[in-house]
Amino acid sequence: MFVSFEGIDGSGKSTQLVLLREVLEQRGHTVVTIREPGATLLSESIREILLSTKQTITPTAELLLFSAARTQLVEKVIQPTLERGSFILCDRYVDSTTAYQGYGRMLDLESVRLCNRMATKGVMPDVTFFIDVGFEQAQQRMQFDSSVGDPDRMERSGRDFFERVRNGYLAIAIDEPHRFVVIDGLRERSEIHDDIVSSLQQRSAFSI
Ligand code: ADP
Ligand code: TYD
Repeated sequence: MFVSFEGIDGSGKSTQLVLLREVLEQRGHTVVTIREPGATLLSESIREILLSTKQTITPTAELLLFSAARTQLVEKVIQPTLERGSFILCDRYVDSTTAYQGYGRMLDLESVRLCNRMATKGVMPDVTFFIDVGFEQAQQRMQFDSSVGDPDRMERSGRDFFERVRNGYLAIAIDEPHRFVVIDGLRERSEIHDDIVSSLQQRSAFSI
């Protein structure tokens, strides 16, 4: 089963991914966790380029770089993992491109969709949890996190950008209500986690 986590930076995605991994492992499942962009040598190198503040990157170049990182990950990690029958938990996937490059950078949505189809080869999550928090809340969470360093190139994009990104995610939720689950991220970690576990359990095809 393939589960992805989405949300604006600092929303609490990674926290929930770790909590879900623990539960699944306790129940005897093999779980592979990955982050995007990353998880292969090439994708981690592309991540460095994308997040570095040393240079500007045009929106279209940004779209293609995120997509290149993803397609390597799909072929090298995601497809083989799913073929082995393991769980795969992904911190961001293709919806990040729709929300950040499509809605955030305002690239043509049809071109973004085409790019996404090429990069994923049609491999889509069974379920995606969108941890919904506003810009202010996410900023506050990152400020209190001593492990977070200076803002990266994406994080410097400003409030209007992140509001467009959040609206992009909410638009995906309308387009794909079955796969894309909106989770109120303004609650305690444990409450959010319980919601995620019960949402997975309700999908009767997947026994966890
Ligand atoms: P993301 O992966 O979306 O960037 P993180 O999971 O790293 O977000 O969380 C960002 C910060 O917010 C971390 O310091 C984390 O401990 C904290 N955090 C996560 N979930 C919550 C929550 N529900 N309430 C308050 N703080 C949270
Ligand atoms: P990361 O540190 O992994 O995100 P987070 O702060 O949420 O833990 O950084 C990845 C950045 O790249 C993040 O700002 C979202 C952005 N991104 C895109 O713009 N498009 C994409 O397709 C992906 C996967 C990420």
